[in-house]
Amino acid sequence: IILKDKFADNFKMGTAISKAQVLNPSDPELLLAAKHFNTFTPENSMKWESVNPLPNEYQFDVADALVNFAKNNNQQLVGHTLVWHSQTPDWVFEDESGNLLNRDQLLQRMQHHIKTVAGRYADQIFAWDVVNEALNEDGTLRESKWQQIIGDDFIEQAFIFAHLAAPKAKLYYNDYNMFKPEKRAGAIALINRLKQKGIQIDGVGMQAHYSLDYPDFAEVEDSIVAFAATGVDVMITELDISVLPFPENLAEGADVSLDVALQQQYNLYKDGIPKDVEQQLASRYQALFSLYKKHSDSIGRVTFWGVSDKQTWRNGWPMQGRTDYPLLIDRNMQIKGFVGSL
Ligand code: XIL
Repeated sequence: IILKDKFADNFKMGTAISKAQVLNPSDPELLLAAKHFNTFTPENSMKWESVNPLPNEYQFDVADALVNFAKNNNQQLVGHTLVWHSQTPDWVFEDESGNLLNRDQLLQRMQHHIKTVAGRYADQIFAWDVVNEALNEDGTLRESKWQQIIGDDFIEQAFIFAHLAAPKAKLYYNDYNMFKPEKRAGAIALINRLKQKGIQIDGVGMQAHYSLDYPDFAEVEDSIVAFAATGVDVMITELDISVLPFPENLAEGADVSLDVALQQQYNLYKDGIPKDVEQQLASRYQALFSLYKKHSDSIGRVTFWGVSDKQTWRNGWPMQGRTDYPLLIDRNMQIKGFVGSL
């Protein structure tokens, strides 16, 4: 089975690529990625802290390597991400004396960053996650430094700057828990606000860091339908389905404590995934892909957050030291048995 061929009539198939993978041309996961997927997203290497860790210091080696790899393998590249509250250094919001910038100063810094990064790859990067995770669970705007200093229009400004820097690129808003009705409504209001102001927005990314019992896929379907109705493309981004318990309090937006992690035995399946658990994973993926296929007219791309179970970020999130099995390719680099049934 070649994943991108299997779903060729439905949507593009993508994966996140890590820094370690792209810097080693013979990395087995990198080679598998080239074989199975037709679109790549950098897992970390285009985030602010990666490309611009210190003032006036841009580092593009890893990002450039990925751009070249994608080009040589005929892969579409989705940039991730220009404006986010996380993995963005604190100095971004401060002047040289450590005082918070004012609105105009931060807008200027944001524009400079977007011009430098999105502009550099204007001809190579197909689309950008312009703004990532700006909404709260209830659909209101998250109180990030971006929002506090610039104000509620920081998202609009980011999309305007992105279009100026990379006029051909598709521009997306990306967030998690987009199946939740309140968050869905907030995202739709955001999309409509941009459209009404004549600001380009081409798509919405629904992150999909799911579990065996979370979320209810009927809500996922409602969101796909509702987002598509606004006229933008729907992207499934960051898909993985953890087989390990998901801390309840984390689902509610609270931090999880180490005690909870230990209680929940994250290494339950350290020596292998039991047959019945693999069967539950298969059922979840079957339900999800039948939904995606049903709405393939609206869904442009399904991107997994990682290539194989060996290196998925879910081995380290929500807590370090997990042994998880969330993807379609196992630790031995084999396509899982149930993939044929998707
Ligand atoms: C994650 C990466 O996978 C990790 O390697 C990193 O330590 C933290 O970020 N939402 C996103 C992604 O938009 O950028 C995050 O990626 C996962 C959650």
